[in-house]
Amino acid sequence: MLPEYYEFICPVKILSGLKALSNLPYELTLLGAKRPLIVTDKGVVRAGLLKLVMEAFSESDIEPGIVFDETPPDSGSAVVNKVAKLFKDNKCDSFVAVGGGSVIDTAKCANMIVVEGTNDLMKFQGVDRLEKDMKPFVVIPTTAGTGSEVTSAAVIYDEASHTKMAFTSSKLFPKAAILDPRMTMTMPAKISAATGMDALTHAAEAYYCLAKNPVSDGFAIAAIRLIFENLLTTVKEPKNKEARLAMLNASLLAGAAFSNSLVGVVHGIAHATGGVARVPHGVANSILLPFGMENNFKKVGPIIGELAPFMGMPPTGKPMKDAENAVAAVRKLGKQLKDASGLPTKLSEAGVTKEQLPEIAKAAINDGSCTINPEEITYEVALDILKKAF
Ligand SMILES: NC(=O)c1ccc[n+]([C@@H]2O[C@H](COP(=O)([O-])OP(=O)(O)OC[C@H]3O[C@@H](n4cnc5c(N)ncnc54)[C@H](O)[C@@H]3O)[C@@H](O)[C@H]2O)c1
Ligand SMILES: [Fe+2]
Repeated sequence: MLPEYYEFICPVKILSGLKALSNLPYELTLLGAKRPLIVTDKGVVRAGLLKLVMEAFSESDIEPGIVFDETPPDSGSAVVNKVAKLFKDNKCDSFVAVGGGSVIDTAKCANMIVVEGTNDLMKFQGVDRLEKDMKPFVVIPTTAGTGSEVTSAAVIYDEASHTKMAFTSSKLFPKAAILDPRMTMTMPAKISAATGMDALTHAAEAYYCLAKNPVSDGFAIAAIRLIFENLLTTVKEPKNKEARLAMLNASLLAGAAFSNSLVGVVHGIAHATGGVARVPHGVANSILLPFGMENNFKKVGPIIGELAPFMGMPPTGKPMKDAENAVAAVRKLGKQLKDASGLPTKLSEAGVTKEQLPEIAKAAINDGSCTINPEEITYEVALDILKKAF
């Protein structure tokens, strides 16, 4: 059934292909930018990826104003303020993010702070609080991934409250996303697995949660098919260019889907698990996804069942059987990724303690993602999911 009304927005130019990165200086020129601040992290630099970016600039008139490579995983507000200050001190005019979600979201939030002329990031927490247009902003994802290169969201850790804060605004969309498989080939197996499962969670939750619409459904299904066909290959054959490019595309498609249709209880609890127990976002999602799907069987079982054929499970003609098959396919992929990369399938294997579960459940019910989940998420329901996933 179509929603009575919906909107869909994805205003990001997409450049996808081997060596697509060489177009970066031209894209910046089109945006009127001459002196970008490059945001990245140590892992990306160690993998030799900054070098590829610098090589792309060497054949152009554009020279980066400064490189910031100290973004930590699940970056926080202090780092964002530091990046914003570097932007001003070095007279930069644009942002280029080279990294995973932590880097991309740090660049998004620093951009927000620069244009809004403040250092109080938390003022903009929530939905549509931004008034000014962002500085030119190009993203080169090195994980596949968060899809943050095409989302209107940023997630930042608040050191004061130990929670992950979400910022959403149509102003947060980057201007261009460059998908180059050379940028993800260096990802360690476990990070490839975890970030790929984050993308799968975006696509699945966008498809069966309450804000679904036919356009995001199309994006979600295309993403799920690509993930089931390519994620395991990227983990087993890290240098496989075709599979890497397919996963970058899957991540982007899933990002565009959930940026419009939002996510559900899996993300709600994953954010809380990240905040309380510092479990990486993709790891938490991967563990929780089968339980989150089962949690929604009563309300949207047949819709979940529609996903089975794109997960390699032929339709049976029985919607609830298809829903069970979809969950079984997700569990099987999780198990294969565990065997190939050590990706945990239980919270206890990811460093969470039993004593932390109530605190995580409490934080989860205050997370905006839970409001769009078909099944109502009370403290008891969240705790039940956590116990099952423990
Ligand atoms: N804004 C959004 O729409 C959105 C969506 C989902 C998640 N997120 C956020 O994104 C963050 C997670 O991002 P992530 O999962 O991409 O991981 P990440 O950015 O935290 O990176 C994880 C690690 O992988 C390393 N790495 C990244 N790319 C590499 C490469 N190609 N080669 C070698 N090492 C590499 C990094 O150095 C880092 O140590 C979380 O904070 C999450 O909340 C945001
Ligand atoms: Fe996510």
